[in-house]
Amino acid sequence: MYDGMRANDISDVVAADRVHVWHHLTQHKAFETTDPRIIVQGKGMRIWDASGRETLDAVSGGVWTVNVGYGRVSIADAVRDQLLRMNYFAGSAGSVPAAQFAARLIEKMPGMSRVYYSNSGSEANEKAYKMVRQIAHRRHGGRKWKILFRERDYHGTTIACLASGGQPERAAQYGPFPAGFVQVPHCLEYRSQWGATANYGERAAEAIEEVILREGPDTVGAIVLEPVTAGGGVITPPEGYWERVQEICRRHDILLILDEVVCGVGRTGEWFGYQHYGIQPNIVTMAKGVASGYAAISCTVTTEAVFEAFKDDAADPLGYFRDISTFGGCTAGPAAALENMRIIEDEDLLANTRAMGERLMGNLRALQERHPVIGDVRGKGLFCGAELVSDRDTKEPLPERQVAAIVAATLARGVQIGMTNRSLPGLNNTLCLSPALIATPDDIDRISDAIDGALGEICPG
Ligand SMILES: Cc1ncc(COP(=O)(O)O)c(C=O)c1O
Repeated sequence: MYDGMRANDISDVVAADRVHVWHHLTQHKAFETTDPRIIVQGKGMRIWDASGRETLDAVSGGVWTVNVGYGRVSIADAVRDQLLRMNYFAGSAGSVPAAQFAARLIEKMPGMSRVYYSNSGSEANEKAYKMVRQIAHRRHGGRKWKILFRERDYHGTTIACLASGGQPERAAQYGPFPAGFVQVPHCLEYRSQWGATANYGERAAEAIEEVILREGPDTVGAIVLEPVTAGGGVITPPEGYWERVQEICRRHDILLILDEVVCGVGRTGEWFGYQHYGIQPNIVTMAKGVASGYAAISCTVTTEAVFEAFKDDAADPLGYFRDISTFGGCTAGPAAALENMRIIEDEDLLANTRAMGERLMGNLRALQERHPVIGDVRGKGLFCGAELVSDRDTKEPLPERQVAAIVAATLARGVQIGMTNRSLPGLNNTLCLSPALIATPDDIDRISDAIDGALGEICPG
């Protein structure tokens, strides 16, 4: 059937998609009467669909991924050259780009030391969990096997990642789940669990310690947290939170795993989200922006101390990290990641992200003054969200259907934005923005202008 597709014969493509492709996160009933959307080209921050319609992409490929923008010839060349030289060998051996990228990455992460390659954010987190579990066996007599996670955070789509996810709608109907993952409270001050609190950040961190003490510190091996929660509502941590979390982890000998799958490699205006807060993790996972979607790559980065736990007894046949990821040996990932990193440095995209992030936040705050439906505005770098409410006083969340209508009305104005969806019952009410790190002032203003128009249309007054 695919032989029949001619370069411009989009109707064949649409027909093939309708009949054979199962789209992610999509209810397909609608495609019995309408065509699926097919994106055929991208350049910079712009994308074109099968009908030729141009859209400004304010979500970097839908899920905060294409950080350096579309159509980068130098990344395509780097990947092509590498594939022709050496495309693959299993990760038990090394490769030139994997070694080079690991060294470059570690330069950006003082205190970290080792890079374990795989292919997706979920997989990177699974590796981290396996490390924690094996350390529990090797160092703590099988105890310290529990892994804490936070309400509203997301760590991936596999069964163990869903077990450690704080978004019940993602996990619904996929259980039963493995044991040993324990939830701690979220840290969104706008929806404070303790009413008005003088120091909400410290209070939210102490809530973690309460869970540790309840479970027994000798049973807890790690906690996994997003530096800034992404799909759970763009939650920037309150002041004082991270410092206290670090202190608690050290006090109870608990490994701190930071999920930088969204924040990592520039999104927040630093190389890594945690670097805003002066904390030192034990394990960091990353994926999406590592190669901006030009190749599949994820990394589980550890300190030397974590790594050492797997090589201190060479006589033990089960004592090393017995994990494999077939495609973690693909060289396209690190080749693309090296060039992606060079672009961020040479084009000074971290500084641009900070400047454009401030502009976007300023624009959103100005919209908040004119549109009562915007209850809260949050963000760090080019990673912003606007929480929508039906009533500012009661903070009643705007119904998901209406939030979706605003996204659609923004798209009708030529700008693709995102929203929290299928995450938290009744709380899928945050607009999500994550433009590429190359965004210009004009791009930022176009995004907020389109949202302005959409809010005026869907929620007038
Ligand atoms: C914070 C976070 N961690 C992990 C993941 C999972 O990544 P992947 O879809 O590559 O498995 C995601 C995906 O959206 C994410 O947002």
